[in-house]
Amino acid sequence: MYDLIVLGGGPAGYNAAEHAGKAGMKVLLFEKNSLGGVCLNEGCIPSKALLNSAKIYEYATHASAYGVKVEGASMDHPAIVARRGKVVKMLVNGVGAKMKGAGVTVVKENAVIKGRVPGGFAVTAAGQDYEGAKLLIATGSSAVVPPIPGVRENLGGFVITNKEVLELPEVPKNFAIIGGGVIGLEMAAYYVTAGSHVTVIEMLDHIAGPTDREISTMLQKEYAKKGVDFKLQHKVVAVEAGKVVCEAPDGSKVEVPADKVLLSIGRRANYQGIGLENLGVATERPGIVTDSQGRTNIDGVFAAGDVNGHHMLAHTAYREGEVAINTMMGKKDTMRYNANPSVIYTKPEVASVGMTEEEVKAAGIEYECAKLSMRYAGRFVAENEGGDGLCKILVDKKHRNVLGVHMIGGYASEIIWGAAQMIEMELTVHDIKEIIFPHPTVSEIIRETIWELKD
Ligand code: NAI
Repeated sequence: MYDLIVLGGGPAGYNAAEHAGKAGMKVLLFEKNSLGGVCLNEGCIPSKALLNSAKIYEYATHASAYGVKVEGASMDHPAIVARRGKVVKMLVNGVGAKMKGAGVTVVKENAVIKGRVPGGFAVTAAGQDYEGAKLLIATGSSAVVPPIPGVRENLGGFVITNKEVLELPEVPKNFAIIGGGVIGLEMAAYYVTAGSHVTVIEMLDHIAGPTDREISTMLQKEYAKKGVDFKLQHKVVAVEAGKVVCEAPDGSKVEVPADKVLLSIGRRANYQGIGLENLGVATERPGIVTDSQGRTNIDGVFAAGDVNGHHMLAHTAYREGEVAINTMMGKKDTMRYNANPSVIYTKPEVASVGMTEEEVKAAGIEYECAKLSMRYAGRFVAENEGGDGLCKILVDKKHRNVLGVHMIGGYASEIIWGAAQMIEMELTVHDIKEIIFPHPTVSEIIRETIWELKD
């Protein structure tokens, strides 16, 4: 009998398996596709490879602003897609090596929970049964496919999701994106730079969902400058050959031309068909119900990552997996979500952690807000000709601790962890003023912005 069976080899599953293996547990991990899950194979990593090529192209086409002459720059989409494959392959192999290093047994099969056995649980895969004292369910999530006429019939062809969009053989002339959230925006950024006419259709009156509104408004303006068309508050009523039919706020019909349609309206936890009913594991929309330690309602059965349906971010999944393993091993640990950063990796980057100004107001918290253009960081000016950006810090008026940090501008993704630490450690304005930031870095914008506030 294994000490632990992990279902799913994405960020939650593989990281937890490694953690457990290194701690001396005998671990078995099932993965039906490729190690690394959606993040590594069809999400975070390949999209960053594509976006980086778009950034390089943008730098090349704006090189004269930096005194550099570049002639004939162009994007070779098939070569970019091929490089993305190479990056993914290298990292998938890396995860395999990690599993080996931690002594984790990996079985590349679809596993289904069979039920209880003395001292644990049974799982079946490819006709063979396996037993584990504990279970960690980390089966991830899948793209939501709505029952809009024309969507399901054309799925994988004219209508694509996060997987196909990363490996399209050619750049569509007209590219319609349904959903102006993270996936939609990142792919809009790549394809508009690659030459598509991109239209983002979003049912809300703003893009980037829960992002601080001031920041998402700035992001939308930057995208509009690049040529992305936005149809906000538009309801998709049908997808037909060559077009997406929407309903505008005034009830009129709008047709968006499309050679390809990306569906990016959110994700749904994968908890069907894995045998949860054989144990009676409780689910509730949006996913498997867990406590702050990743425990389900069944003693010995844990869940981590997108399958719990909450934050659906790879870095959150890593941490949830670690908390679950620590709990299994009797170590005190708990999942906190108040310092959980999120990033949109476009140019400009958007990075946030903590509460948005809208959330702070809605919670009735008395707060102060300091805001500075990223141009207050010398390095930003040196490296961003004509660029602007914003750093916004919200603090509790009385206690002076940081409630939220929201940034738009280059390197924000690499800086935000520091802001997450400030929230996690409950640092006050005074504490942050005592931190020495390296000069010149864009991270100094945090220091500059914090100095706008009284201790
Ligand atoms: P999302 O939840 O970020 O955004 C979906 C958007 O679609 C929302 O703005 C929603 O209002 C809109 N929408 C929903 N139904 C619609 C309809 N019928 N018509 C028009 N608009 C509609 O979901 P997305 O972009 O699919 O991403 C899925 C998950 O992947 C997210 O949970 C995200 O956290 C994660 N992800 C994270 C990334 C990152 O951290 N950089 C990158 C990509 C994905």
